[in-house]
Amino acid sequence: MEKSIQTTADYWTKLLICALVLLTTQVHCHFNPKINVTFLDNAVSRGAVCLDGTPAGYHYEKGYGTGADNWLVYLPGGAWCNTKADCVARTKTVGGTSINVTHTWYGGILGANPIVNPDFYNWHRTFIRYCDGASFMADVEAVDPETNLHLRGGRIFRAVVDTLLAKGMKNAKNILLAGNSAGGLATILHCDRFRALVPNASRVKCLSDSGFFLHAYASRHLFEFDL
Ligand SMILES: *[C@@H]1O[C@H](CO)[C@@H](O)[C@H](O)[C@H]1NC(C)=O
Ligand SMILES: *[C@@H]1O[C@H](CO)[C@@H](O)[C@H](O)[C@H]1NC(C)=O
Ligand SMILES: *[C@@H]1O[C@H](CO)[C@@H](O)[C@H](O)[C@H]1NC(C)=O
Repeated sequence: MEKSIQTTADYWTKLLICALVLLTTQVHCHFNPKINVTFLDNAVSRGAVCLDGTPAGYHYEKGYGTGADNWLVYLPGGAWCNTKADCVARTKTVGGTSINVTHTWYGGILGANPIVNPDFYNWHRTFIRYCDGASFMADVEAVDPETNLHLRGGRIFRAVVDTLLAKGMKNAKNILLAGNSAGGLATILHCDRFRALVPNASRVKCLSDSGFFLHAYASRHLFEFDL
């Protein structure tokens, strides 16, 4: 009850601020804000790169108020590529390259509307771009000489998490690692290791939305790369 009163107050406050937009800054005015990409400074030297070798990136919005000590880290979906040809095709899209990537729109649990997203709207909210085609898991040093494919999703995850830790997540009280589909699987697979990276947080939870697949077929294709 107390919380919903607080939330409603936040909503009206925000609406009022937005109504006075000519007199104020536009900070927090958009409920589904457009968030620019940030590419990792050291992405290439750390090998945290997309399938085509371009730098990995993430989107971030700073938390405030009651959310100032809380972090949401989101891993989006986007299926897998299971063969060389499939992965090469993927490098022509944002699922496999960061070329042409500029921004994304935050909605749902990443959104800034306290009525629609009362639990997380003011948390630090990060969206890690999914451009490795394998649920943020691979960590293969060798690059395929024939196709220039890089299999580095695990390094992308780790490099972005290290960046977030340095940005303040190491002092977080509550952290939610969440993801859907291919990102939901990544959430399950990374959950325990992620927890170990934030020993000082009092609560860390992992939320996998549609992330468990019975896909025995895929395991055969892991060997096709033969690296
Ligand atoms: C996002 O990027 C665009 C294009 O580069 C730029 O004009 C804008 O100022 C950026 N917005 C923020 C909040 O940094
Ligand atoms: C990037 O954008 C340019 C201009 O729209 C387009 O020609 C090119 O195919 C795009 N490249 C990728 C990898 O999306
Ligand atoms: C946890 O907190 C202690 C005490 O403030 C600090 O010394 C330590 O570096 C922190 N650990 C991490 C991994 O942030």
